[in-house]
Amino acid sequence: MKIKDLVRKNIEELTPYSSARDEFKSTSDFIYLDANESSYDNKLNRYPDNRHIQLNKLISSFKNVNTNNLILCNGTDELIDLVIRVFCNPGLDKIITLNPTYGMYDISSRINDVENIKIDLDINFQIDINKVLSSFDSNTKVIFITNPNNPTGNSLSNEAIIKIIESFKGIVFIDEAYVDYSNISFLKKINSYNNLIVSQTFSKALGLAGIRLGVGYSNPEIISYLKKIKPPYNINSLTEKKAIESLMREYVNIDQVNETIYERKFLELKLKELAFVKVVFPSNSNFLLIKVDDADKRYKQLIDYGIVVRNRSNVKGCENCLRVTVGTPQQNKILINTLKKI
Ligand SMILES: Cc1ncc(COP(=O)(O)O)c(C=O)c1O
Repeated sequence: MKIKDLVRKNIEELTPYSSARDEFKSTSDFIYLDANESSYDNKLNRYPDNRHIQLNKLISSFKNVNTNNLILCNGTDELIDLVIRVFCNPGLDKIITLNPTYGMYDISSRINDVENIKIDLDINFQIDINKVLSSFDSNTKVIFITNPNNPTGNSLSNEAIIKIIESFKGIVFIDEAYVDYSNISFLKKINSYNNLIVSQTFSKALGLAGIRLGVGYSNPEIISYLKKIKPPYNINSLTEKKAIESLMREYVNIDQVNETIYERKFLELKLKELAFVKVVFPSNSNFLLIKVDDADKRYKQLIDYGIVVRNRSNVKGCENCLRVTVGTPQQNKILINTLKKI
């Protein structure tokens, strides 16, 4: 399978946007009169240097990949959209999602007029490999796999994922937003399979959802197509600065991750003691999916006590389910005490 043959023809033929600053090696003592910015210096009056050299280097060294194996995006959500736009012809091509799963694959596919073939996970929220393998045709271009999955929280079978990567003649996108809580990653495989994209994010364990930074990892060919269509300045200067500051300290705060994993267990045990909690599903993430007697009722009761969880009861496969993010130890105690009162 050639990646070039999967790419939309108009994208293959596209000449990407370039600015005057892409055409020469810039230095800070030049006088910049090329981009119609304000010329009055306030430290943010210039467009960002969209090569993001230091940030790319830091991420590549933490993740042990080359800088041409990665693309920085305005959150994973932007990457999802870029992938659909590079590979899927509107009104013709399809994606596959394994449901219940993260909602943005479906939203992005609809925005791009790309059909989403929804394959249900089995009763244990695992991949039904036979169903998946029999569901693609020559117009199926991307399969989205969320590992660990959201909203179910569990890790999916490695064998099933590998089977899909090896059998599918299209792009396999593995969304590893919660990877730091599971430590199971396909990142090392990006150069072994030419159809694999792995996404990770600064929004979860790295504690920086506010800066909007997602990272796509793949082979240099796929990365170059994604870069071809990304908006020229998708990573703003403040995001870049904050991400660098954070990475100069560490990649992820391991104490916070360990505490979250410990607290997840605490919550799981305490939740299981409550009569109206029917199931606490296994989780490798920073949240728990729980089945209760009446999700709408329990959701509203929690709101009345000032606690917001996610009501997933209208999602197929998650009837009467609430998704609860693991909080700090203090927040978790308040949650459990409140649920006991209820
Ligand atoms: C599986 C999954 N992927 C991606 C995202 C969004 O990531 P980002 O904040 O990088 O856009 C979320 C957010 O909840 C998620 O659950």
